[in-house]
Amino acid sequence: MSRGLILGIESSCDETAAAVVERGSRALSSAVASQIPTHAKYGGVVPELASREHLRSIVPVVRAALAEAGVTLADLDAIAVTSGPGLAGALLVGIMYAKGLAFSTGLPLIAVNHLEGHIHAVLLREREEYGPSADEPALALVVSGGHTHLYLARPANGLWTYKLVGRTLDDAAGEAYDKVAKLLGLGYPGGPWIDTLAQFGNPLAVPFTFAQIKTKAHLIGKTPRTKAAKTAPIAALDPHFLFSFSGIKTAVLRYVELHSMREEAEARAARGTAEMKPPATRETALDLCPQRTLDLIASFQHAVVGDLLKKTFAAAETLGATRVLVTGGVAANRELRERFAAQAAKRCQRVAFPSLALSTDNAAMVAAAAWPRFEAREFAPPDLSADPSLAL
Ligand code: KG4
Ligand code: ZN
Repeated sequence: MSRGLILGIESSCDETAAAVVERGSRALSSAVASQIPTHAKYGGVVPELASREHLRSIVPVVRAALAEAGVTLADLDAIAVTSGPGLAGALLVGIMYAKGLAFSTGLPLIAVNHLEGHIHAVLLREREEYGPSADEPALALVVSGGHTHLYLARPANGLWTYKLVGRTLDDAAGEAYDKVAKLLGLGYPGGPWIDTLAQFGNPLAVPFTFAQIKTKAHLIGKTPRTKAAKTAPIAALDPHFLFSFSGIKTAVLRYVELHSMREEAEARAARGTAEMKPPATRETALDLCPQRTLDLIASFQHAVVGDLLKKTFAAAETLGATRVLVTGGVAANRELRERFAAQAAKRCQRVAFPSLALSTDNAAMVAAAAWPRFEAREFAPPDLSADPSLAL
């Protein structure tokens, strides 16, 4: 009898990942080759370098995933791959490799949207813990370096449907974390740095605020810049569920300039933060950042998490969802997890996150998202290609 084993492959950004998942509900392995050391010195992902690193890593990573799961290609039932959104060259490495593997083994190929993958990172954990009963409607916040999107996710005849209900107008929340960290001379990616250092600062020291996005009139009639925006025009969304994170990045920059903190940030970067791990104790944090900087970091995070929290729960309430899923790299953040859990408890709602390892990019989420498609026999066409702006 088939074991329902799917090999997932993910290469949309700066992680080359492969994983084997059984029936969308048990991860047998999850191998991730991170490219952080390659991109850290540039303070962001360099697309050409990402493609090259994927080419280097894809074969060893797939082998590691099969070995860790204790299976061979002959045991698999399907191969799943991320087809978008992401970097075109990076996506193509995974897609071409998955296609070759599917062709040579005769296994079906399943295309997965990266954002759907992130949502299934939570569903996989829930199915592992509670079984299939976890499949009920939910409000899902996908919050990562590339996305800040709100979806109403609903199971329908074994498959899932996703209705976009909110999104960022400009930067993603993770992007704001990365840019603010760079501005303050901290390492890359910025999320884990700010997460760790924020513990030692006063979150109320700098009162950052987010203005309510009131009108969408300025967007009506504007030509959408991306294919994703064409399929889900911002003007069609409730402005209460729209995000904007470019303003807070500028506010932090202004604060740094006004308080002459630029030199201090440059000196910090010169100490080699790109190659360092975030300091984990108050003493080591204070060795790297004066208290005023720690307060700024804590205030930035407090404001971002507060805005994500407010809009997510408002959307859940408006749409009648009693369950909230938070996923993507920023969902690894400890203040975010604590405050979302506290808010859900206050409202008698449920909130769920992926395991910490599956919050950032991985392939177990891709294999898990592919399972309902496998059961529905929804396979990818032989001419499957990368779609950098694929919408969900
Ligand atoms: O999901 P992911 O690995 O890649 C994308 O699909 O973008 O997310 C990466 C993003 C980065 O912006 C990183 O700074 C952020 O997630 N991140 C965090 C944390 N860990 C990673 N942000 C806040 N707190 C964290 N602990
Ligand atoms: Zn991602």
